[in-house]
Amino acid sequence: MIPSTTRMVVLRDRPGRGDDPTPDLFAVEELPIPELQAGQLLVRNIAMSVDPSMRGRLDLGEKHYTTNFEVGQPLDGSAVGEVIASEDERIPAGVVVRHRAGWREHAVVDASTVAVIDTEAAPVGAWLGVLGQTGFTAWVGLKRIGELHEGDVVFISAAAGAVGSAAGSFAKLLGASRVVGSAGGPDKVRQLVEQLGYDDAMDYRAESPRDAVRRLAPDGLDVYFDNVGGPHLVAALKNMRVNGRVALCGMISQYSDDGRGEDINNLIEAVLRRITIRGFIVRDHEDMRPEFEQTVAGWLRSGEVEALQTVTDGIDHAVDGFLGMLRGANVGKALIRLDPNWDI
Ligand SMILES: NC(=O)c1ccc[n+]([C@@H]2O[C@H](COP(=O)([O-])OP(=O)(O)OC[C@H]3O[C@@H](n4cnc5c(N)ncnc54)[C@H](OP(=O)(O)O)[C@@H]3O)[C@@H](O)[C@H]2O)c1
Repeated sequence: MIPSTTRMVVLRDRPGRGDDPTPDLFAVEELPIPELQAGQLLVRNIAMSVDPSMRGRLDLGEKHYTTNFEVGQPLDGSAVGEVIASEDERIPAGVVVRHRAGWREHAVVDASTVAVIDTEAAPVGAWLGVLGQTGFTAWVGLKRIGELHEGDVVFISAAAGAVGSAAGSFAKLLGASRVVGSAGGPDKVRQLVEQLGYDDAMDYRAESPRDAVRRLAPDGLDVYFDNVGGPHLVAALKNMRVNGRVALCGMISQYSDDGRGEDINNLIEAVLRRITIRGFIVRDHEDMRPEFEQTVAGWLRSGEVEALQTVTDGIDHAVDGFLGMLRGANVGKALIRLDPNWDI
């Protein structure tokens, strides 16, 4: 049956300047589903992604690569769902698609904006995680931005998260000789080494990155994959080898402090050690996606890569899953399952 209304997460208010977001800023509302127009699809969402970039979209202010969420309007983001009604003959009902209208149980989307996904090839969660934008970010960051070479020593921060866990396993498979990581808490550090294939790891809540990076990589780093910024970046710069590369992927330690964070006061290291420091936004590198999908789908099939995920169930708990991810409650990709009938 085609429903006439659906539940969505709406932004009620923005966080105060420099504040962490809180659950009261959001509400789940039941809203009408608009009538399908030519070229549109009605999708019942199966699962959606929650991402650190959504933290920045809660604020007002200039955005360089995405749009802010609007107060009074539903949030959006990556999701996978099943088409249940179609006004586009190329994508009939029953097909599973990835699209940008998450944070709602049903979505009306333009057929031209979706990607059809094969749930036989990989489960829904993988298409939002290691085989989706998350894994692609790790791929671009290591291969193009970090210029990973056979035998390199690689350091990855937020190493147990979605991008970080993918980057750790990809780096090993792409020929790194040593991969070390940083995460919050002893359980994650243990998991990095015992389950995720890291050679060694540090708990940044217990040990300062300044001391730990030298201990983890006494002969220096060829590549630093930065998800965190702040003291991790300072410590990595101090421990890079000559001609090292720093891939600036994100700076989650600064997302709630309006970007002020801790100053990077040792950029002279980039001069002395001839370091290349390069920021990137994954969507500028779409030319690499076919090679990425083909390689990582193969690694998933062979079991060399695992689709790690932390799943929160139900639209009523989506905000908890999002805020939990910002605090580090996840290992692997943080996902919200919206349809309990699907195994993701
Ligand atoms: N450039 C791009 O195109 C692009 C695309 C996607 C993602 N990103 C960036 O990649 C990074 C990782 O994203 P993701 O989706 O994979 O998220 P994620 O790592 O799965 O989740 C965020 C993690 O950040 C860690 N964290 C939170 N506060 C921290 C702090 N103050 N210091 C150190 N770690 C902290 C938490 O793990 P702990 O328990 O270890 O603290 C948490 O699990 C983010 O910076 C994101 O913005 C960039």
